[in-house]
Amino acid sequence: MGRVIAECQLPIADWHFLTPDFYFVSQIQVFDTPELLAAAAARRFVILAAKSSVQQSFSVALSGGNTPRRVYELLATDEFKSKVNWQLVHIFFGDERPVPPDNPASNYGMAVATLISRVPIPESNVHPISGAGDPRENALKYERELRSYFAGSAWPRFDLVLLGMGEDGHTASLFPGSEGVSEKKAWVVANWVEQLNEFRITLTAPAINSAAQILFLVNGASKASRLAAVLNGPFQPDLLPAQLIKPDQGELIWMLDKAAAANL
Ligand code: 6PG
Repeated sequence: MGRVIAECQLPIADWHFLTPDFYFVSQIQVFDTPELLAAAAARRFVILAAKSSVQQSFSVALSGGNTPRRVYELLATDEFKSKVNWQLVHIFFGDERPVPPDNPASNYGMAVATLISRVPIPESNVHPISGAGDPRENALKYERELRSYFAGSAWPRFDLVLLGMGEDGHTASLFPGSEGVSEKKAWVVANWVEQLNEFRITLTAPAINSAAQILFLVNGASKASRLAAVLNGPFQPDLLPAQLIKPDQGELIWMLDKAAAANL
């Protein structure tokens, strides 16, 4: 494991810890290199998947971005893939770009190339978000798919959500200033992102926060100052959507490389 620099005491204004009916644990782990960070995240995936085999399924929401990409590549290597019962794994997505799967920008496409096509996971266990076509319809369609998988739950209870953070403080496709940031009811929204001039489809913050475990993977010096603002600055989620991520009844681990953690 990396060096733990904070546990259960992140100074974000309204974080709650370990009260009887509000169980929330968080930790910040710092790794010397992005490669060590990715290996630790892959190990965490394997451990959680093994634990979940008792319940006969392991649901994970993947993210796009370069940091998670390396985790998927590692999971597809012999060392890791042989330790996972892929029959029990259900792969979902935290967000998607407005492109078809064969477009290099597609999060699903990236996950297929790096992981899904390289491990023995049944096709029916993979749940992509459609990026092509009407974004609002695609968001509704994905919410229906999630509601059917997590039937009977008020919110989706992913066993694991992997997230990255952008240099602007966005996570999943909850971008600064976008409407989706304040969504409280829907599980999935088509979120207009002015900065990109496009719709993104994304899980909402409450949907992410219902997960049992969230891993926030952040590396690189270019994110250091924004990360410090997210973790130690005033709570202003409209500007820094990553601040919204606090599981209701689960565990949050920030996995950072040294460069990203430099200003903490
Ligand atoms: C996306 C993501 C996004 C990403 C961050 C970090 O589709 O763009 O899901 O939230 O995780 O932008 O990406 P990097 O790790 O590449 O910086």
